[in-house]
Amino acid sequence: MISKDLKLAIEKIKNNHLVAIPTETVYGLAARYDSEEAIKKIFETKRRPFFDPLIVHVASIDQAKSLVETWPVIADKLAKRFWPGPLTLVLQKSNKVSSLITSGLESVGIRMPNHPMALELIKQLNLPLAAPSANKFGKTSPSTAQHVENEFKEEDLLILEGGNCSVGIESTVLLIEIKNDKNCLSVLRKGSILKSEIENYLKSEKMNFEFVDIIQKEKSPGHMKHHYMPKVPLIICKNASMNTQNVLADFELHKSQMPRQVEGVSIYIPSTALCNPNILDLGSDAAQAARVLYQRLRESSELGNDCIIFYEKKEYNSESWEPILERLHKAATYIIA
Ligand code: TXA
Ligand code: MG
Repeated sequence: MISKDLKLAIEKIKNNHLVAIPTETVYGLAARYDSEEAIKKIFETKRRPFFDPLIVHVASIDQAKSLVETWPVIADKLAKRFWPGPLTLVLQKSNKVSSLITSGLESVGIRMPNHPMALELIKQLNLPLAAPSANKFGKTSPSTAQHVENEFKEEDLLILEGGNCSVGIESTVLLIEIKNDKNCLSVLRKGSILKSEIENYLKSEKMNFEFVDIIQKEKSPGHMKHHYMPKVPLIICKNASMNTQNVLADFELHKSQMPRQVEGVSIYIPSTALCNPNILDLGSDAAQAARVLYQRLRESSELGNDCIIFYEKKEYNSESWEPILERLHKAATYIIA
């Protein structure tokens, strides 16, 4: 049920139910962070494996501090500069955070969402909320309340109507580790807050830090080969001179070798030949492309197209396009070099 009833949302969350909430990035499937019963419901509803940890959402820096063992100066600076906003800080967790949320890791991801409704909800509850994106595991994330409703038709789920997400892709996830008094940073997931922005800001603050950027599976268990997958195959073509018919013919030729499942994410490959593609044109402005990305991935199946073709142009070769291209590559069934 889509609604603007904040009071009802508060009641539901207090009673260990899930509520879908708007944020500036994507809609989240939220539960009180301090209830194992409620957290388990998130994993069950999303069909998410227990090894992929959840982000905890706060409405103040004090709330964030209550979730961590120590609150380093660098985290304080980044939070004051980028919160509320699409930056998740991964820090050493305090014992208030259950290992169900962190998938057994000693760290917890925290962010303050930049959406008035989400902030109001957390403030009134006076409780941080654990929330992953409100989509089934491996599937396209939701950027409208209707997307969430379509995804969880079979559930009796309250979805808070907060309009279209203004950013449109998930937050940048930044791991902060302090080794020998040195701040070591790693971008675990790219988002609209770019590494260069973080770097420039910390330099201007004369902070002592280095980017390590090693993506180790044990530190970033959410790193799957496939993610964000739409209902119909997405084909990425890097060869601008290849026409649509040739792209489809190439897909048919290689179809039998394509995997049907990777790391628990199922990949749909139609048995009949593809013939009705939707050409995904994201324009040239990265911020606008991010805003419409998930809507565009979702609409193809609704419009009756049997696949999506995205021509990856040379002009996308800039840092602001990286988070978008990374998502498209994970969402793709087939990539033509
Ligand atoms: O913008 C967002 O971040 C959205 C909105 C709802 O806030 N949330 C979101 O959550 O994208 P989710 O669960 O779909 O993605 C969270 C990512 C996962 O890849 C997970 O592995 C990583 O963050 N993550 C969370 N906690 C972590 C931790 N302690 N260590 C490493 N990675 C972590
Ligand atoms: Mg997600």
